[in-house]
Amino acid sequence: KITPVILSGGTGTRLWPLSRESYPKQLLPLVAEETLLQQTARRVADPALFNDLVVVANAEHRFVIAEQLRCIGMSARRIALEPMGRNTAPAALIAALFALRDDPESILLLMPADHAISDDEAFHVTLKMGIESACDASFVLFGIEPTAPVTGYGYIHMGKPVGHGVRKVLAFKEKPDLATAERYLASHDYAWNSGIFLLSARALIDEMRCLEPALLHACERAIEAGRNDLDFLRLDAAAFAEARSVSLDHALMERTKNAVVVPARFSWSDIGTWSALWQRGHKNAEGTVVEGNATAHNARDCYLRSDGPLVAALGVHDLIVVATHDAVLVTTKGRDQDVRPLVEMLRQSG
Ligand code: GDD
Ligand code: MG
Repeated sequence: KITPVILSGGTGTRLWPLSRESYPKQLLPLVAEETLLQQTARRVADPALFNDLVVVANAEHRFVIAEQLRCIGMSARRIALEPMGRNTAPAALIAALFALRDDPESILLLMPADHAISDDEAFHVTLKMGIESACDASFVLFGIEPTAPVTGYGYIHMGKPVGHGVRKVLAFKEKPDLATAERYLASHDYAWNSGIFLLSARALIDEMRCLEPALLHACERAIEAGRNDLDFLRLDAAAFAEARSVSLDHALMERTKNAVVVPARFSWSDIGTWSALWQRGHKNAEGTVVEGNATAHNARDCYLRSDGPLVAALGVHDLIVVATHDAVLVTTKGRDQDVRPLVEMLRQSG
């Protein structure tokens, strides 16, 4: 059986002002009545296939996460709490170290909490194709057919088939520049990285012992010196602070020789930007998505959302307007990747 792990520590900056540090996007009902965290947890609820869930998240979100799982009748075997964000490589190591305590043969399914997958059954079929490779100590990636030269994703250079539905990974490039992404797209040998990984906990730790020994050591100490608090395990702050902040994509996937890829049979979308939500949203006759306290008249291809004051758009096109009770974002579609630096700027200016 597979041990599912949800990594829920990101802040979803590009979905500001709705997504905040205190309430990041995965904990918001953005695309359905359930939150992305709840949808992700449900996807791995089948006890025939999966062990109990493990969540690695920021300490600040502990009660919201436990409550959201409880609302869908689930609970986590473990919620590991990070005193501060250190990106996904440390979070993955924490999950792996835990899993090994339960079972030295653990196979982990590392999942981000910021995706929408519409067909859970197809997701399970794709997963099963990767299990054998994961048991053989390969790191299994799930490839998405690219449709545009998006620079916010990892790209997988796919090689020869090595088994049913499985191909060798020749190279992995995280977040290439636009020219490189265009070249990848044109070559047809590349897939987007879905951000979901299937791997043996033991293999991950062995590989990271070679690649990032100091990082592994910091994680080991953060668990040893950590303490249990209700159902949570609080990692030791001083030890965890020593961990280098790095993504699993950079720390492992770009460097390992042992990766394989299963081209995904499920439909996948990254809920990263307002444009992505516009794309998925329910559009009116003029192509505009209206959510919450907003209204549109002759507004073409816009995304309008308000959880605060009434927002009325008139005679505009391709705009994104998102209002909350204390902040309003106005930008255009295609510029919304830049919301991240904007928020950084706002943070610095206090
Ligand atoms: N526990 C924990 N701690 N989780 C974290 C942390 C952390 O410090 N930082 C990020 N996460 C979680 C996020 O909440 C998200 O669910 C997941 O890990 C991935 O992090 P992102 O920050 O969203 O990564 P990304 O979108 O830039 O890139 C990744 O996903 C792409 C697909 O959406 C990479 O794996 C890319 O290669 C991939 O294409
Ligand atoms: Mg993401």
